[in-house]
Amino acid sequence: MLIRKVNEALLKAKLQGKNGIHFLEKEIKTESDKPPTILIIDDDSRNLKLLESTLLSTNCEIIKGMNGIEALYIVNKTNVDLVLLDVMMPEMDGYEVCRQLKSNEVTRLIPIILVTALDDRESKIKGIEAGADDFITKPPNKLELLARTKSLIKLKRLNDNLASIELVLFSLAKTVEAKDKYTQGHVERVSKLAITLGRKMGLKEREMEALKYGGMLHDIGKISIPGNILNKPSPLSPEECKIMETHPVTGYNICLPLKKNLGYALEVIRHHHEKLDGSGYPDGLKNEDISATARIMAVVDIYDALVTDRAYRKGMPLGKAVDILKQEANSNKLDKVVVDCLIEIVGGALKTDATNFVKSP
Ligand SMILES: [Fe+2]
Ligand SMILES: [Fe+2]
Repeated sequence: MLIRKVNEALLKAKLQGKNGIHFLEKEIKTESDKPPTILIIDDDSRNLKLLESTLLSTNCEIIKGMNGIEALYIVNKTNVDLVLLDVMMPEMDGYEVCRQLKSNEVTRLIPIILVTALDDRESKIKGIEAGADDFITKPPNKLELLARTKSLIKLKRLNDNLASIELVLFSLAKTVEAKDKYTQGHVERVSKLAITLGRKMGLKEREMEALKYGGMLHDIGKISIPGNILNKPSPLSPEECKIMETHPVTGYNICLPLKKNLGYALEVIRHHHEKLDGSGYPDGLKNEDISATARIMAVVDIYDALVTDRAYRKGMPLGKAVDILKQEANSNKLDKVVVDCLIEIVGGALKTDATNFVKSP
């Protein structure tokens, strides 16, 4: 730990150029239109030079480091677009560095190419298990290195764009929550529970994505609903209900320009208030015309609303909420399979909760 701290301190000083050793080839910029930054890690300075000279024609910023600890430090402190990582290094080998970067939510999308003298199958499998995106054998072939570097940097930039879009949308969703003091944490709880349900029901990966994004964004259209309606401490009038019922379409329209990225989540946003018998809104869809993901979201959304405090009533006991969901399923409003699945998931809480009041799912 101490050695690590000392190394980090030394490296920080190096990065700031205070000891006269300019570790960085060029100063790191943070503008979005800056050239890509490639980090090369190798404990052999000749290999560092070789890789650097091969990449000279790419107009990339090059940062070099000589061990795993430097690699982790630099990646965490700067905006790196690609890591070329030596495998055989003392103390911390390339596999371990790769594993740590790929298991960290902040750094997991940075592409890593393992540069290794080992060309055997076992080493590659080990690299794949550690999360490496690609491999280059030493000595690197120039054209191969340039091609792989280029395509992985392109992928990283794409991921960066998607991550920014995601952030903007999620902060918008949080803004909506902030308007409604009774729905704090609602979208996160709904998203998590919907994913648990979807997994239990064996949904496909793209449907799981729809539940994740749909859960977070399903009420984003409430941004247009006046605060006095959102926070009204008594039931809404028919006119106010009409206004409230516009939120799925408003949310859909907000997210529609991101159709390519959000995919099936758009259906979840638009159809999370549809009912199997056609009595829901906004499109009055029936049965199978409502996607499985929207049917899941409808159940989870109502469940969360029932068990948490609202402007006009206290959160109800889990047993009572479950009874209401069952009634809704029996009268063909909610999907019975989904309701049963949800009851299985929250069933543990139902049995063990002595006070019969649910904690947030
Ligand atoms: Fe809603
Ligand atoms: Fe909701």
